[in-house]
Amino acid sequence: MVLEKERMKIGSGAGKRVEIETPVVVLNEKAYAESVGERGFELAEICEEVAVEKGVSVVICPQQAELGLIASVVSIPCFAQHADAVEPGSHTGSVTLESVKEAGAVGTLVNHSERRLKISEIDFLVQKAARLGLLTIVCTNNTAVSRAVAELKPYAVAVEPPELIGSGRAVSKVDPGIVEETVKAVKRVHEKCLVLCGAGVTNGEDVRAALELGADGVLLASGVVKAENPRAALLDLMRGL
Ligand code: G3P
Repeated sequence: MVLEKERMKIGSGAGKRVEIETPVVVLNEKAYAESVGERGFELAEICEEVAVEKGVSVVICPQQAELGLIASVVSIPCFAQHADAVEPGSHTGSVTLESVKEAGAVGTLVNHSERRLKISEIDFLVQKAARLGLLTIVCTNNTAVSRAVAELKPYAVAVEPPELIGSGRAVSKVDPGIVEETVKAVKRVHEKCLVLCGAGVTNGEDVRAALELGADGVLLASGVVKAENPRAALLDLMRGL
């Protein structure tokens, strides 16, 4: 008996211009056991359901292996967690911007603290992504780096003090100055650039504090991915929007 395989068309989201409204919650699934395979898919579905139910803007960054599948089935914008500063070719294991686009993602994180890049690589990715119609959220660790990165004209800068990542201690509460200063510094260089903040953001108060400091949204991971009840955690975050 020949089994009729339902073949998901990978990349069917490619080219779909998905508007990202602000304020925005960007969920990075990272490489956690709680977000691998089917579990990553379920998290993306929860994000989509909450975004639709609450009328808020949520972006999901699936694990790379599931990017194409998830981008093809959820209506919310998907971002890659990382892309490599290489042209298509013999770069085994690399993730090119072309593959991110063909997977149906609308953009990519760049220079996440767990995937630090050289400034020349960040520049390559930001410029090439713009040519391909992809958005870039460039992660930074402080105000000076955020100011420098803003010169490259990315879609967004996400400032995240590495020491707070995964700590459950929100940057918007623990170090409000870095958020406020980064917003001012980035907007002075590139007015249209969004500024997100991340690291330790876990609840609605953390989100509200970030927005009151001038951020256009938050970038987070463990507060939802590792939560006992991710849906409840995400709904709590939405209280701050
Ligand atoms: O990409 C966002 C991430 O680095 C923040 O991590 O677990 O502190 O929300 P977390």
